[in-house]
Amino acid sequence: MAAGNLNTLIADAARKLETVGIESGGAEAEYILCELLDFDRLHLYLHGPSLIDDALIARFEAIIAKRLTRYPLQYILGVAWFFGRKFIVNEAVMVPTPETELLLDSILRASRRCRSHPVTVLDVGVGSGVLSVSAALENPELAITAVDISDAALGVARQNAERLDAADRITFVQSDLFSALKPGPQFDIIASNPPYIADGEYDGLPLEVKADPRISLLGGPKGMDIINRLIKEAPDYLRRPGYLMFEIGYDQAQDVFAAVQADSLYVDCTLQKDLNDIDRVVICRVES
Ligand SMILES: C[S@@+](CC[C@H](N)C(=O)[O-])C[C@H]1O[C@@H](n2cnc3c(N)ncnc32)[C@H](O)[C@@H]1O
Repeated sequence: MAAGNLNTLIADAARKLETVGIESGGAEAEYILCELLDFDRLHLYLHGPSLIDDALIARFEAIIAKRLTRYPLQYILGVAWFFGRKFIVNEAVMVPTPETELLLDSILRASRRCRSHPVTVLDVGVGSGVLSVSAALENPELAITAVDISDAALGVARQNAERLDAADRITFVQSDLFSALKPGPQFDIIASNPPYIADGEYDGLPLEVKADPRISLLGGPKGMDIINRLIKEAPDYLRRPGYLMFEIGYDQAQDVFAAVQADSLYVDCTLQKDLNDIDRVVICRVES
């Protein structure tokens, strides 16, 4: 294939994707080719033209055809990137979002302030395992317990932990929040990216988001059901000092603040904004 044909292949795909409302069609087309060739973008343009043959073009076109239905690219390819690592994903787990990297950053920063050895972390709603696996790999001092109500999600998380060589640092437990854990304060940090979308907002979500499992998205009438349970139940499982931190929706900061302030066990509550200047991560501290 000539270099110009690579540009045409990408531009044609981008044009098709834009007709169904996918604005970043060019970037997606490049990314698909990179994944098919296992190249980064530079190598795609340097070596791609000599390697792209009819068979690869057919695979590329089949992926574009599927993507035109607005089915998430991560499910089509079976992989998603998080904090610089590639994770396996399928319909059993939510596609990880870049905002959740902020929660990972908060876990890592809080873990450096903890005095325990090892620092114990509970990941509530592990999904594909992006938080637990990344935290384990970024900080060797952490011992992580990861729970999810979904057995299928736990299977994907285990697979990712094994592939990325973090399985010996993470204990996986099927549990409705804390219900299957032994009672008592045992974690320095409890972290969660919970389902926080209000039931009434579901219909208006982009098709890509609606492909995520409903149990990973929906948090009751105001999206606060799981968050409220976390705020209420976490102190029973936290060491002192200890941290509860979790991701929230774009409009939930006030309700969350009110719920934390109403609970005298929390001495502090701070918010971290995401790159779009939206309050995204809540960090609550318990002292005694
Ligand atoms: C928003 S997803 C987060 C997944 C992953 N941690 C991430 O950040 O990509 C929420 C996860 O919580 C799980 N979940 C929902 N309700 C739960 C419950 N009551 N107890 C435990 N896990 C729950 C879902 O199965 C889903 O995997």
